Amino acid sequence: MNDPNGPVYHRGRYHLFYQLHPFSDEGGPKYWGHVRSRDLVKWEPLPIALAPSLDAGEAEVWSGCCTLNGRGKPMIFYTSIAPGKSAQTHAEQWAATGDDDLLTWRKSPANPVLSETLHEGKKIYDWRDPFIFRDRNRTFMVTGGNLNEGKGGQAVVNIYEAQNPDLTQWKYRGVLFQIPDPRAGTAECPNFFKLGDRWVLFVSPYGKVQYFVGDFDPDTCRFVPHTSGLLDFGPNFYAPNTMQVPDGRRLVWGWVNGFPGGHGWNGCLSLPRLLSWSRDGQLRQSPAPQLSKLRGKSIEWRNLRLEAGGRLVSLPKTNTLEISADIDLEYAEGLVLIFKSGSGNTRPITIEVSSSESRMKEPDLSLPLDKSERNLRLRIFIDRSVLEVFANETVCATKVISPLDANAMLELQSRGGIAQAKRVQCWPMETIW
Ligand code: FRU
Repeated sequence: MNDPNGPVYHRGRYHLFYQLHPFSDEGGPKYWGHVRSRDLVKWEPLPIALAPSLDAGEAEVWSGCCTLNGRGKPMIFYTSIAPGKSAQTHAEQWAATGDDDLLTWRKSPANPVLSETLHEGKKIYDWRDPFIFRDRNRTFMVTGGNLNEGKGGQAVVNIYEAQNPDLTQWKYRGVLFQIPDPRAGTAECPNFFKLGDRWVLFVSPYGKVQYFVGDFDPDTCRFVPHTSGLLDFGPNFYAPNTMQVPDGRRLVWGWVNGFPGGHGWNGCLSLPRLLSWSRDGQLRQSPAPQLSKLRGKSIEWRNLRLEAGGRLVSLPKTNTLEISADIDLEYAEGLVLIFKSGSGNTRPITIEVSSSESRMKEPDLSLPLDKSERNLRLRIFIDRSVLEVFANETVCATKVISPLDANAMLELQSRGGIAQAKRVQCWPMETIW
């Protein structure tokens, strides 16, 4: 699997679709897989939601979104790829309508609901990944692409406005935003939404996922960002997609990529992260609070003095676990955590969280820390070969590692001075299936 697609909360359930190649653990034509959950914790696998309509000249169904149209009917919007055509130069945006349980989907007779002719002669390359949002009773769609044949430098997010309640007619409203970074090859999987009183844009530019925060004017359809950042500092988090839940909060999932082949599966979803604003106005991502339901019996330490020499703590005997650490950095610039194999057979896994310029040579993950932050709250999740780290809920990092040894010990070292671990808690985690 790759991208999460069309996350939607519908009739008491969280639904996630995802890019799926059903026939091997390598690349191949994409379908939409489907899972659902009542509590965001335990998940139920469901039949494939969308397959390519070969008879209608469709070879692949690429990423997109799921929403209710103006008549309350569930709809999926996605990028349709034709047989033998390059996705860089040829794409259409198609729709499908679903039953009330979101289990069976029929392609819309109006397809393609958006085609390149909408752009009135302007050529948009890698045109794909529709995402729908609403503002003041108007319905908009954004898509990703670039104006420079994918060579980099002109990655754009395009915006369209719905012209009918069925969402089958759309008007091109221009370029919402061009990514300033000239290295951005394109803007895949744009997500654009209001969080509190600010607008947020996520883009996947063939590199680390970027976010921008600013103002949106629905009349001019322009987005003016004021700040930006990286959603994840690790190497293996891409193409995130968001879901708004009934209380107005928003969750995000990413695609965890970078697994070695040959397992019969490849790729998974990140943990759900809840988005909010920190007190000083930074984008906050915290592990969804429901995840604590998966916790088993904890092991806990208090008031450990940390030095460069390191302090060993034992972990639950499992390779699926959560760790929460509350550190007073006192005189230290940062912290290094090392998961040491009990048998000595596997390489240690190292995480560095530091404000210092001088960094470790090759940590598995390195998270930057603001110098002014004296308290470090860490949440670490390891699911065998997936490592997800949250530092002060504002800096996140994801990496595929070689599977954790179930007998691993954790060594905590401070850097640049002593620090105090006020509390370290570790829980085994239960399965989500
Ligand atoms: C991002 C992406 C999307 C595309 C999908 C195809 O990983 O390239 O732009 O729709 O994957 O599977």
